[in-house]
Amino acid sequence: MSEHVLTEREGGVLILRMNRLEKKNALTRSMYKRMADAINQADQDASVRSLLITGGHECFTSGNDVADFLQAPPSGLNSEVFMFMQALFDFSKPAIAAVCGPAVGIGTTLLLHCDLVYVSRDATLKMPFVSLGLCPEYGSSMILPRLLGQAKATELLLLGSAFSGEQAAAWGIANQALHDSAATLAKAHDMAQRFGSLPPTALVDSKRLMRAPDREQLRQIIIEEGELFSQRLHSPEAREAMTAFMQRRKPDFSNL
Ligand code: COA
Repeated sequence: MSEHVLTEREGGVLILRMNRLEKKNALTRSMYKRMADAINQADQDASVRSLLITGGHECFTSGNDVADFLQAPPSGLNSEVFMFMQALFDFSKPAIAAVCGPAVGIGTTLLLHCDLVYVSRDATLKMPFVSLGLCPEYGSSMILPRLLGQAKATELLLLGSAFSGEQAAAWGIANQALHDSAATLAKAHDMAQRFGSLPPTALVDSKRLMRAPDREQLRQIIIEEGELFSQRLHSPEAREAMTAFMQRRKPDFSNL
């Protein structure tokens, strides 16, 4: 539903706020679609100079809605989640994220495609893909080993270990960890506004240059990960893991 993603203009900044707190901002197909459309429109709108993605003070997002995954698993490049991934990946202007509270699954991997990331110190980031019977997504299998080294990336992607905002900043996933959510949002808003006073074409050209090396390889990897992820969503492992989450019990993989 549209009220689950709020859009707001603050000068040249388009703010996208995930707003489904009762489900920890879990992302449904309609939320992905709304975010994809807003990002694509912002890219075309010369008055938008930067994009700010946030979930507000309490929660960034708990990732893809698990009930949606069970009932209508996305597949293919036309799925809403893929449209969202593509829109952010191709967004030509600066994208800034403000992360408070939990950031799970795509809540963490989308940060790898933002240009600036601010986190509250006690934010909790996590990519539990393998424990859900899934695989890394959105280029994380390429970006994280390069950014963090194979050893640390293994902890985060294969074991799904949680990490704090403070660690995210220390490891270069985020620019800065701030002491609370108010400071995090204020910093992100301030930085997003700063882009408004810079020459827009120089900014867009420079972002493109910075992202150009490996860009097509990364695009291809995102597609390959997406294909495997879609297959795995139908696997007995994933269905057991996700059903267990919804039923608030431990998954049982012993008979699989
Ligand atoms: N999909 C669907 N529902 C979700 C959800 C998700 N990704 N994340 C949370 N919810 C729902 C819960 O089922 C619960 O619903 P209910 O009140 O109707 O029972 C509600 O949101 C609150 O979640 P809860 O788990 O009780 O909150 P918490 O504060 O104890 O924990 C999280 C918050 C974010 C740590 C926890 O919900 C979580 O780990 N979610 C992640 C799910 C996941 O694996 N996502 C990755 C998909 S790749």
